[in-house]
Amino acid sequence: MGDDTESETDLNEIERLDKAHVFGTWSFQNEVRPRQVVGAEGNRFETADGEEYLDFSGQLMCSNLGHSADRVADAMAEQAREGAYFAPGYTTENRARLGEKLAEVTPGSLSKTFFSTSGTEAVEAAIKIARMYTGNHKIVSRYRSYHGATYGSISVTGDPRRLMAEPGIPGAIKAPDPYAYGSTMDPMESLEYIDEMLMLEGDTVAAVLVEPVVGSNGILVPPPEYLPRLKEIAHDHGALLICDEVMSGFGRTGEWFASDLFDVTPDIMTMAKGLSGAYAPLGGTIVTDEVAAHFEDEMFCHGHTYAGHPVACAAGLAAIETYESEGLIDRADEVGRYLGDRLEELQETHPSVGETRGVGLFRGIELTKRADERVPFGERKDKISTGTTVVDEVAARAGDRGVYVANMINTLIIAPPLSITREEIDEAVDALDHALDHADESMEGTP
Ligand SMILES: Cc1ncc(COP(=O)(O)O)c(C=O)c1O
Repeated sequence: MGDDTESETDLNEIERLDKAHVFGTWSFQNEVRPRQVVGAEGNRFETADGEEYLDFSGQLMCSNLGHSADRVADAMAEQAREGAYFAPGYTTENRARLGEKLAEVTPGSLSKTFFSTSGTEAVEAAIKIARMYTGNHKIVSRYRSYHGATYGSISVTGDPRRLMAEPGIPGAIKAPDPYAYGSTMDPMESLEYIDEMLMLEGDTVAAVLVEPVVGSNGILVPPPEYLPRLKEIAHDHGALLICDEVMSGFGRTGEWFASDLFDVTPDIMTMAKGLSGAYAPLGGTIVTDEVAAHFEDEMFCHGHTYAGHPVACAAGLAAIETYESEGLIDRADEVGRYLGDRLEELQETHPSVGETRGVGLFRGIELTKRADERVPFGERKDKISTGTTVVDEVAARAGDRGVYVANMINTLIIAPPLSITREEIDEAVDALDHALDHADESMEGTP
Protein backbone atom coordinates (compact mmCIF):
# COMPACT_ATOMS: atom_id res chain seq x y z
CA MET A 1 0.00 0.00 0.00
CA GLY A 2 1.07 3.61 -0.46
CA ASP A 3 2.05 6.13 2.16
CA ASP A 4 -0.57 6.06 4.94
CA THR A 5 -0.33 9.70 5.98
CA GLU A 6 -0.54 10.93 2.43
CA SER A 7 -3.68 8.96 1.54
CA GLU A 8 -5.36 9.71 4.88
CA THR A 9 -5.35 13.40 4.10
CA ASP A 10 -7.60 12.43 1.15
CA LEU A 11 -10.31 11.38 3.59
CA ASN A 12 -13.08 13.83 4.45
CA GLU A 13 -14.23 14.38 8.05
CA ILE A 14 -16.84 11.61 7.99
CA GLU A 15 -14.40 9.14 6.49
CA ARG A 16 -11.76 10.03 9.08
CA LEU A 17 -14.28 9.63 11.93
CA ASP A 18 -15.36 6.31 10.51
CA LYS A 19 -11.81 5.10 10.12
CA ALA A 20 -11.03 6.06 13.70
CA HIS A 21 -14.13 4.57 15.34
CA VAL A 22 -15.53 1.81 13.12
CA PHE A 23 -13.89 -1.47 12.19
CA GLY A 24 -13.42 -2.12 8.49
CA THR A 25 -14.43 -5.73 7.83
CA TRP A 26 -11.95 -8.46 6.84
CA SER A 27 -9.09 -5.93 6.72
CA PHE A 28 -5.82 -4.82 8.18
CA GLN A 29 -7.14 -1.61 9.72
CA ASN A 30 -4.22 0.49 8.49
CA GLU A 31 -5.29 -0.34 4.94
CA VAL A 32 -8.94 0.67 5.39
CA ARG A 33 -10.01 3.75 3.39
CA PRO A 34 -13.77 4.16 3.92
CA ARG A 35 -15.50 6.05 1.14
CA GLN A 36 -18.57 8.04 2.14
CA VAL A 37 -21.61 7.30 0.00
CA VAL A 38 -24.02 10.20 -0.25
CA GLY A 39 -26.68 8.92 -2.58
CA ALA A 40 -27.84 6.25 -4.98
CA GLU A 41 -30.34 5.95 -7.76
CA GLY A 42 -31.22 3.06 -9.99
CA ASN A 43 -28.07 1.06 -10.60
CA ARG A 44 -25.67 3.84 -9.58
CA PHE A 45 -24.34 5.35 -6.38
CA GLU A 46 -22.45 8.52 -5.61
CA THR A 47 -19.61 9.21 -3.20
CA ALA A 48 -18.96 12.41 -1.23
CA ASP A 49 -16.17 13.46 -3.59
CA GLY A 50 -18.72 13.70 -6.40
CA GLU A 51 -17.77 10.47 -8.19
CA GLU A 52 -20.57 8.34 -9.61
CA TYR A 53 -20.30 4.58 -9.97
CA LEU A 54 -22.26 2.02 -11.94
CA ASP A 55 -22.87 -0.82 -9.49
CA PHE A 56 -21.67 -3.89 -11.38
CA SER A 57 -21.62 -6.14 -8.29
CA GLY A 58 -24.76 -4.99 -6.48
CA GLN A 59 -22.51 -3.92 -3.57
CA LEU A 60 -21.82 -7.30 -1.90
CA MET A 61 -23.77 -9.22 -4.53
CA CYS A 62 -26.98 -8.33 -2.69
CA SER A 63 -28.56 -5.17 -4.13
CA ASN A 64 -30.61 -7.21 -6.61
CA LEU A 65 -33.25 -4.48 -6.90
CA GLY A 66 -30.87 -1.60 -7.42
CA HIS A 67 -31.03 1.46 -5.23
CA SER A 68 -34.46 2.93 -5.98
CA ALA A 69 -36.96 0.25 -5.02
CA ASP A 70 -39.55 2.64 -3.59
CA ARG A 71 -42.09 -0.09 -2.95
CA VAL A 72 -39.66 -1.72 -0.52
CA ALA A 73 -38.70 1.56 1.17
CA ASP A 74 -42.38 2.50 1.55
CA ALA A 75 -43.33 -0.88 2.99
CA MET A 76 -40.57 -0.58 5.58
CA ALA A 77 -41.58 2.94 6.57
CA GLU A 78 -45.22 1.95 6.85
CA GLN A 79 -44.41 -1.05 9.07
CA ALA A 80 -42.04 1.02 11.22
CA ARG A 81 -44.87 3.48 11.87
CA GLU A 82 -47.48 0.78 12.49
CA GLY A 83 -45.17 -1.01 14.92
CA ALA A 84 -41.47 -1.39 14.41
CA TYR A 85 -40.97 -4.41 16.61
CA PHE A 86 -42.95 -7.14 18.32
CA ALA A 87 -41.56 -10.23 20.03
CA PRO A 88 -41.27 -13.30 17.78
CA GLY A 89 -44.21 -14.90 19.62
CA TYR A 90 -46.47 -12.36 17.92
CA THR A 91 -46.90 -12.25 14.18
CA THR A 92 -47.59 -9.52 11.67
CA GLU A 93 -49.33 -9.66 8.33
CA ASN A 94 -46.04 -9.05 6.54
CA ARG A 95 -44.30 -11.94 8.30
CA ALA A 96 -47.08 -14.45 7.65
CA ARG A 97 -47.49 -13.41 4.02
CA LEU A 98 -43.73 -13.49 3.44
CA GLY A 99 -43.63 -17.05 4.81
CA GLU A 100 -46.44 -18.02 2.44
CA LYS A 101 -44.74 -16.28 -0.50
CA LEU A 102 -41.46 -18.08 0.10
CA ALA A 103 -43.26 -21.43 0.15
CA GLU A 104 -44.61 -20.42 -3.27
CA VAL A 105 -41.39 -19.24 -4.96
CA THR A 106 -38.96 -21.83 -3.56
CA PRO A 107 -38.83 -25.27 -5.19
CA GLY A 108 -40.86 -28.37 -4.26
CA SER A 109 -42.14 -28.86 -0.76
CA LEU A 110 -40.00 -26.20 0.93
CA SER A 111 -42.68 -24.59 3.05
CA LYS A 112 -41.68 -23.32 6.48
CA THR A 113 -39.14 -20.60 7.23
CA PHE A 114 -37.14 -19.45 10.23
CA PHE A 115 -36.38 -15.74 9.79
CA SER A 116 -33.15 -14.20 11.02
CA THR A 117 -31.16 -11.10 10.09
CA SER A 118 -28.25 -12.30 7.93
CA GLY A 119 -26.84 -15.04 5.76
CA THR A 120 -24.61 -16.37 8.47
CA GLU A 121 -27.54 -16.70 10.87
CA ALA A 122 -29.52 -18.47 8.16
CA VAL A 123 -26.67 -20.99 7.87
CA GLU A 124 -26.35 -21.36 11.66
CA ALA A 125 -30.05 -22.22 11.80
CA ALA A 126 -29.64 -24.71 8.94
CA ILE A 127 -26.79 -26.47 10.73
CA LYS A 128 -28.77 -26.71 13.97
CA ILE A 129 -31.94 -27.90 12.20
CA ALA A 130 -30.00 -30.62 10.34
CA ARG A 131 -28.39 -31.72 13.59
CA MET A 132 -31.69 -31.76 15.49
CA TYR A 133 -33.47 -33.57 12.65
CA THR A 134 -30.90 -36.31 12.01
CA GLY A 135 -29.39 -36.64 15.47
CA ASN A 136 -25.95 -36.47 13.80
CA HIS A 137 -23.56 -33.58 14.14
CA LYS A 138 -21.12 -33.64 11.20
CA ILE A 139 -21.46 -31.25 8.28
CA VAL A 140 -19.69 -31.88 4.98
CA SER A 141 -19.09 -28.69 3.01
CA ARG A 142 -16.54 -27.71 0.35
CA TYR A 143 -13.21 -25.91 0.26
CA ARG A 144 -14.20 -23.20 -2.18
CA SER A 145 -17.14 -21.87 -0.24
CA TYR A 146 -18.22 -19.05 2.02
CA HIS A 147 -21.09 -19.55 4.45
CA GLY A 148 -20.69 -16.69 6.91
CA ALA A 149 -18.60 -15.22 9.69
CA THR A 150 -20.16 -16.54 12.92
CA TYR A 151 -18.61 -19.61 14.47
CA GLY A 152 -20.69 -22.38 12.97
CA SER A 153 -20.82 -20.80 9.52
CA ILE A 154 -17.13 -19.92 9.39
CA SER A 155 -16.25 -23.46 10.50
CA VAL A 156 -18.13 -24.93 7.54
CA THR A 157 -16.70 -22.26 5.23
CA GLY A 158 -13.86 -23.49 3.07
CA ASP A 159 -12.19 -20.23 2.05
CA PRO A 160 -9.15 -18.87 3.87
CA ARG A 161 -11.18 -16.60 6.15
CA ARG A 162 -11.92 -19.76 8.15
CA LEU A 163 -8.30 -20.24 9.11
CA MET A 164 -8.19 -17.47 11.71
CA ALA A 165 -11.32 -18.82 13.38
CA GLU A 166 -9.88 -22.28 13.87
CA PRO A 167 -10.39 -24.44 15.78
CA GLY A 168 -14.01 -24.19 14.73
CA ILE A 169 -17.07 -26.19 15.71
CA PRO A 170 -16.56 -29.96 15.84
CA GLY A 171 -17.60 -32.10 12.90
CA ALA A 172 -16.96 -29.59 10.08
CA ILE A 173 -15.48 -31.71 7.26
CA LYS A 174 -14.34 -30.35 3.90
CA ALA A 175 -14.82 -31.90 0.47
CA PRO A 176 -13.47 -31.01 -3.00
CA ASP A 177 -15.26 -28.64 -5.35
CA PRO A 178 -16.80 -28.71 -8.82
CA TYR A 179 -14.09 -26.41 -10.20
CA ALA A 180 -13.23 -27.66 -13.68
CA TYR A 181 -10.89 -24.72 -14.40
CA GLY A 182 -8.66 -24.85 -11.33
CA SER A 183 -8.96 -28.15 -9.50
CA THR A 184 -7.08 -31.37 -10.10
CA MET A 185 -10.38 -33.23 -9.83
CA ASP A 186 -13.14 -33.37 -12.40
CA PRO A 187 -16.46 -32.11 -10.91
CA MET A 188 -18.28 -35.43 -11.26
CA GLU A 189 -15.25 -37.30 -9.93
CA SER A 190 -15.29 -35.01 -6.88
CA LEU A 191 -18.85 -36.18 -6.22
CA GLU A 192 -17.84 -39.80 -6.08
CA TYR A 193 -15.17 -38.75 -3.61
CA ILE A 194 -17.90 -37.17 -1.43
CA ASP A 195 -19.85 -40.43 -1.68
CA GLU A 196 -16.82 -42.26 -0.36
CA MET A 197 -16.30 -39.67 2.39
CA LEU A 198 -19.83 -40.16 3.67
CA MET A 199 -19.38 -43.93 3.61
CA LEU A 200 -16.06 -43.66 5.46
CA GLU A 201 -17.72 -41.43 8.08
CA GLY A 202 -19.99 -44.40 8.73
CA ASP A 203 -23.17 -42.58 7.67
CA THR A 204 -22.96 -40.22 10.67
CA VAL A 205 -23.15 -36.95 8.70
CA ALA A 206 -26.09 -34.61 9.39
CA ALA A 207 -25.90 -32.67 6.14
CA VAL A 208 -23.99 -31.86 3.01
CA LEU A 209 -23.94 -28.08 2.64
CA VAL A 210 -23.20 -26.43 -0.72
CA GLU A 211 -23.72 -23.24 -2.63
CA PRO A 212 -25.47 -24.69 -5.72
CA VAL A 213 -23.59 -22.08 -7.76
CA VAL A 214 -20.54 -20.99 -5.77
CA GLY A 215 -20.45 -17.22 -5.32
CA SER A 216 -17.58 -15.32 -3.76
CA ASN A 217 -15.18 -18.25 -4.19
CA GLY A 218 -15.18 -17.79 -7.93
CA ILE A 219 -18.65 -18.27 -9.53
CA LEU A 220 -18.47 -22.04 -10.04
CA VAL A 221 -21.36 -23.58 -11.96
CA PRO A 222 -21.39 -27.38 -11.69
CA PRO A 223 -22.47 -29.66 -14.56
CA PRO A 224 -26.27 -30.17 -14.78
CA GLU A 225 -26.15 -33.66 -13.30
CA TYR A 226 -24.01 -32.65 -10.28
CA LEU A 227 -26.61 -31.33 -7.79
CA PRO A 228 -29.22 -34.07 -8.38
CA ARG A 229 -26.52 -36.71 -7.86
CA LEU A 230 -25.25 -34.92 -4.74
CA LYS A 231 -28.73 -35.03 -3.23
CA GLU A 232 -28.93 -38.76 -3.99
CA ILE A 233 -25.53 -39.36 -2.39
CA ALA A 234 -26.45 -37.37 0.73
CA HIS A 235 -29.74 -39.23 1.15
CA ASP A 236 -28.13 -42.63 0.51
CA HIS A 237 -25.99 -41.93 3.56
CA GLY A 238 -28.75 -40.53 5.78
CA ALA A 239 -27.64 -36.91 5.39
CA LEU A 240 -29.72 -33.91 4.37
CA LEU A 241 -28.86 -31.59 1.50
CA ILE A 242 -28.59 -27.91 2.46
CA CYS A 243 -28.38 -25.44 -0.41
CA ASP A 244 -26.94 -22.11 0.63
CA GLU A 245 -28.67 -19.64 -1.68
CA VAL A 246 -27.68 -16.54 0.25
CA MET A 247 -25.92 -15.14 -2.81
CA SER A 248 -27.37 -17.22 -5.64
CA GLY A 249 -31.05 -16.75 -4.75
CA PHE A 250 -33.69 -14.30 -5.90
CA GLY A 251 -33.11 -14.15 -9.63
CA ARG A 252 -29.34 -13.89 -9.56
CA THR A 253 -28.97 -16.91 -11.87
CA GLY A 254 -32.00 -16.13 -14.04
CA GLU A 255 -34.16 -18.50 -11.95
CA TRP A 256 -35.68 -17.77 -8.56
CA PHE A 257 -32.99 -19.99 -7.04
CA ALA A 258 -29.88 -21.69 -8.37
CA SER A 259 -31.39 -25.00 -7.17
CA ASP A 260 -34.06 -24.46 -9.86
CA LEU A 261 -31.38 -24.58 -12.55
CA PHE A 262 -30.80 -28.21 -11.58
CA ASP A 263 -34.40 -29.14 -10.70
CA VAL A 264 -33.40 -29.96 -7.16
CA THR A 265 -35.36 -29.37 -3.98
CA PRO A 266 -32.92 -29.33 -1.09
CA ASP A 267 -34.09 -30.42 2.36
CA ILE A 268 -33.07 -27.04 3.73
CA MET A 269 -32.34 -23.81 1.87
CA THR A 270 -30.72 -20.68 3.27
CA MET A 271 -31.28 -17.18 1.93
CA ALA A 272 -30.52 -13.53 2.74
CA LYS A 273 -29.11 -10.71 0.52
CA GLY A 274 -31.65 -10.63 -2.37
CA LEU A 275 -34.43 -11.72 0.00
CA SER A 276 -34.90 -8.07 0.89
CA GLY A 277 -32.83 -6.74 -2.04
CA ALA A 278 -30.51 -5.63 0.80
CA TYR A 279 -33.03 -3.03 1.96
CA ALA A 280 -33.15 -4.64 5.40
CA PRO A 281 -30.99 -7.18 7.21
CA LEU A 282 -33.05 -10.31 6.64
CA GLY A 283 -32.11 -13.98 6.45
CA GLY A 284 -34.26 -17.06 6.06
CA THR A 285 -33.89 -20.82 6.50
CA ILE A 286 -36.67 -22.71 4.76
CA VAL A 287 -37.26 -26.45 5.18
CA THR A 288 -39.40 -29.07 3.48
CA ASP A 289 -42.73 -30.28 4.89
CA GLU A 290 -40.98 -33.42 6.05
CA VAL A 291 -38.30 -31.59 8.02
CA ALA A 292 -40.88 -29.12 9.37
CA ALA A 293 -43.09 -31.99 10.59
CA HIS A 294 -40.28 -33.30 12.77
CA PHE A 295 -40.55 -30.23 14.97
CA GLU A 296 -44.25 -30.71 15.71
CA ASP A 297 -43.41 -32.95 18.62
CA GLU A 298 -39.73 -32.13 19.01
CA MET A 299 -38.57 -28.75 20.23
CA PHE A 300 -37.43 -26.22 17.62
CA CYS A 301 -34.63 -25.13 19.91
CA HIS A 302 -33.55 -21.90 18.21
CA GLY A 303 -34.46 -18.19 18.08
CA HIS A 304 -33.33 -14.57 18.11
CA THR A 305 -34.79 -11.32 19.48
CA TYR A 306 -35.08 -10.14 15.88
CA ALA A 307 -36.41 -13.42 14.42
CA GLY A 308 -39.09 -12.28 11.99
CA HIS A 309 -38.46 -8.58 12.60
CA PRO A 310 -41.58 -6.81 11.29
CA VAL A 311 -39.74 -4.09 9.32
CA ALA A 312 -37.35 -6.61 7.75
CA CYS A 313 -40.24 -8.91 6.83
CA ALA A 314 -42.07 -5.96 5.28
CA ALA A 315 -38.98 -5.37 3.15
CA GLY A 316 -38.81 -9.06 2.19
CA LEU A 317 -42.43 -9.23 1.09
CA ALA A 318 -42.22 -5.99 -0.89
CA ALA A 319 -38.95 -7.14 -2.48
CA ILE A 320 -40.51 -10.39 -3.73
CA GLU A 321 -43.53 -8.49 -5.00
CA THR A 322 -41.12 -6.23 -6.89
CA TYR A 323 -39.26 -9.18 -8.47
CA GLU A 324 -42.66 -10.42 -9.61
CA SER A 325 -44.29 -7.20 -10.77
CA GLU A 326 -41.21 -6.08 -12.71
CA GLY A 327 -40.53 -9.52 -14.19
CA LEU A 328 -36.96 -9.32 -12.89
CA ILE A 329 -36.26 -13.06 -12.76
CA ASP A 330 -36.89 -13.59 -16.47
CA ARG A 331 -35.10 -10.36 -17.18
CA ALA A 332 -31.98 -11.60 -15.37
CA ASP A 333 -31.96 -14.65 -17.61
CA GLU A 334 -32.33 -12.61 -20.77
CA VAL A 335 -29.94 -9.76 -19.95
CA GLY A 336 -27.62 -12.26 -18.30
CA ARG A 337 -27.08 -14.04 -21.62
CA TYR A 338 -26.07 -10.75 -23.16
CA LEU A 339 -23.66 -10.16 -20.27
CA GLY A 340 -22.17 -13.62 -20.80
CA ASP A 341 -21.55 -12.88 -24.51
CA ARG A 342 -19.93 -9.55 -23.73
CA LEU A 343 -17.61 -11.13 -21.16
CA GLU A 344 -16.57 -13.81 -23.65
CA GLU A 345 -15.43 -11.01 -25.94
CA LEU A 346 -13.13 -9.83 -23.14
CA GLN A 347 -11.69 -13.32 -22.94
CA GLU A 348 -10.95 -13.27 -26.65
CA THR A 349 -9.09 -9.97 -26.53
CA HIS A 350 -7.27 -10.17 -23.18
CA PRO A 351 -4.66 -12.90 -22.74
CA SER A 352 -4.86 -12.38 -18.96
CA VAL A 353 -8.46 -13.61 -18.91
CA GLY A 354 -8.17 -17.32 -18.18
CA GLU A 355 -11.89 -17.99 -18.14
CA THR A 356 -15.22 -16.22 -17.98
CA ARG A 357 -18.03 -18.29 -16.52
CA GLY A 358 -21.38 -18.07 -14.82
CA VAL A 359 -25.08 -17.98 -15.42
CA GLY A 360 -27.69 -15.22 -15.52
CA LEU A 361 -26.41 -12.07 -13.86
CA PHE A 362 -23.93 -14.09 -11.78
CA ARG A 363 -20.62 -14.12 -13.64
CA GLY A 364 -16.92 -14.29 -12.98
CA ILE A 365 -13.74 -13.38 -14.81
CA GLU A 366 -10.80 -15.48 -13.65
CA LEU A 367 -7.34 -14.15 -14.47
CA THR A 368 -4.10 -15.89 -15.39
CA LYS A 369 -0.58 -14.56 -15.53
CA ARG A 370 0.52 -17.03 -18.23
CA ALA A 371 -1.46 -17.07 -21.46
CA ASP A 372 -1.10 -20.79 -22.11
CA GLU A 373 -1.42 -21.89 -18.50
CA ARG A 374 -3.76 -21.34 -15.56
CA VAL A 375 -1.55 -19.44 -13.13
CA PRO A 376 -3.48 -17.15 -10.78
CA PHE A 377 -2.50 -13.57 -10.02
CA GLY A 378 -4.37 -13.76 -6.72
CA GLU A 379 -3.92 -16.76 -4.46
CA ARG A 380 -5.96 -17.98 -1.50
CA LYS A 381 -3.39 -16.73 0.99
CA ASP A 382 -3.70 -13.20 -0.45
CA LYS A 383 -7.25 -13.02 0.91
CA ILE A 384 -5.81 -12.86 4.43
CA SER A 385 -2.58 -10.96 3.67
CA THR A 386 -1.69 -7.27 3.43
CA GLY A 387 -1.24 -5.40 0.17
CA THR A 388 -2.96 -5.62 -3.19
CA THR A 389 -2.95 -8.16 -6.01
CA VAL A 390 -3.22 -7.51 -9.73
CA VAL A 391 -6.88 -8.56 -9.43
CA ASP A 392 -7.45 -5.81 -6.82
CA GLU A 393 -5.69 -3.36 -9.12
CA VAL A 394 -7.90 -4.30 -12.08
CA ALA A 395 -11.00 -3.70 -9.93
CA ALA A 396 -9.55 -0.34 -8.80
CA ARG A 397 -8.93 0.67 -12.42
CA ALA A 398 -12.52 -0.16 -13.31
CA GLY A 399 -13.46 2.09 -10.37
CA ASP A 400 -11.36 4.89 -11.85
CA ARG A 401 -13.58 4.55 -14.92
CA GLY A 402 -16.79 4.78 -12.88
CA VAL A 403 -17.60 1.08 -12.50
CA TYR A 404 -17.67 -0.67 -9.15
CA VAL A 405 -16.76 -4.35 -9.40
CA ALA A 406 -16.03 -6.74 -6.54
CA ASN A 407 -13.24 -9.30 -6.62
CA MET A 408 -12.16 -12.26 -4.59
CA ILE A 409 -8.88 -14.18 -4.72
CA ASN A 410 -8.37 -14.51 -8.50
CA THR A 411 -11.80 -13.66 -9.88
CA LEU A 412 -13.75 -10.50 -10.62
CA ILE A 413 -17.28 -11.08 -9.32
CA ILE A 414 -20.01 -9.60 -11.47
CA ALA A 415 -23.51 -9.54 -9.97
CA PRO A 416 -25.29 -6.30 -10.89
CA PRO A 417 -28.84 -5.35 -9.90
CA LEU A 418 -31.30 -7.39 -11.97
CA SER A 419 -32.57 -4.13 -13.42
CA ILE A 420 -29.29 -3.48 -15.25
CA THR A 421 -29.75 -2.52 -18.91
CA ARG A 422 -27.79 -3.66 -21.97
CA GLU A 423 -26.40 -0.11 -22.30
CA GLU A 424 -25.14 -0.21 -18.72
CA ILE A 425 -23.56 -3.61 -19.37
CA ASP A 426 -21.77 -2.14 -22.40
CA GLU A 427 -20.55 0.75 -20.25
CA ALA A 428 -19.21 -1.62 -17.57
CA VAL A 429 -17.61 -4.00 -20.08
CA ASP A 430 -15.90 -1.03 -21.70
CA ALA A 431 -14.41 -0.01 -18.32
CA LEU A 432 -13.31 -3.60 -17.69
CA ASP A 433 -11.79 -3.77 -21.15
CA HIS A 434 -9.51 -0.87 -20.22
CA ALA A 435 -8.86 -2.13 -16.70
CA LEU A 436 -7.83 -5.56 -17.97
CA ASP A 437 -5.01 -3.98 -20.00
CA HIS A 438 -3.28 -3.67 -16.63
CA ALA A 439 -3.54 -7.44 -16.08
CA ASP A 440 -2.27 -8.10 -19.62
CA GLU A 441 0.72 -5.84 -18.95
CA SER A 442 1.40 -7.60 -15.64
CA MET A 443 1.59 -11.06 -17.18
CA GLU A 444 4.79 -13.04 -16.89
CA GLY A 445 7.04 -12.50 -19.87
CA THR A 446 5.57 -9.05 -20.62
CA PRO A 447 8.36 -6.52 -21.05
C1 LIG B 1 -23.27 -18.18 0.08
C2 LIG B 1 -23.20 -17.29 1.29
N1 LIG B 1 -23.63 -17.75 2.46
C3 LIG B 1 -23.59 -17.00 3.58
C4 LIG B 1 -23.10 -15.71 3.54
C5 LIG B 1 -23.08 -14.87 4.79
O1 LIG B 1 -24.02 -13.87 4.69
P1 LIG B 1 -23.95 -12.59 5.65
O2 LIG B 1 -22.75 -11.83 5.27
O3 LIG B 1 -25.24 -11.88 5.40
O4 LIG B 1 -23.86 -13.11 7.05
C6 LIG B 1 -22.64 -15.19 2.32
C7 LIG B 1 -22.09 -13.82 2.25
O5 LIG B 1 -21.53 -13.39 1.30
C8 LIG B 1 -22.69 -16.00 1.18
O6 LIG B 1 -22.26 -15.56 -0.02
